[in-house]
Amino acid sequence: MIKTKIEEALNQQLNLEFYSSYLYLSMSAYFDSKHLNGFANWAIQQSEEEKLHAMKIYGFLLERGGNVVLSSIQAPPARWDSPLNAFEDSFANEQRVTNTINNLVDLAVEEKDHATHIFMQWFVTEQVEEESMTFGIVERLKMISGSHDGNGLFLMDHELGQRKEAEL
Ligand code: FEO
Repeated sequence: MIKTKIEEALNQQLNLEFYSSYLYLSMSAYFDSKHLNGFANWAIQQSEEEKLHAMKIYGFLLERGGNVVLSSIQAPPARWDSPLNAFEDSFANEQRVTNTINNLVDLAVEEKDHATHIFMQWFVTEQVEEESMTFGIVERLKMISGSHDGNGLFLMDHELGQRKEAEL
């Protein structure tokens, strides 16, 4: 059976993944309101992916005979000053997720919970990609933020519009 400490930490992580899904959904609505449809598409796909992350933990908890305890999801911001500002928030959130995942791995080692330790490795790897992806977008938005013709933003919007459904 899964230990209470691990069960609680996994439920907290489940909540944070749902928060991440909310954050990207809110970003998608913001981009849509700015007619940045490619950015909106990217963010809604990411929101779906975050839900899949949450459901991965949900499934693992049940498989281990643990309890799924759903708690209130923090409200994300509803608007931002710019697309750059929105992606800075998402990058900060990804760093926060990486920290909580690392703490969960530490706890699994401490509690000698090998199954949770192995299960969390997928999330450790995934976070490398999530941080790199959001950081990359932040840096590119910084590069084009000085230009006044909007071409850079238009091209990025087109590119982000190509993102397909979330796959794990
Ligand atoms: Fe599931 Fe973007 O962390």
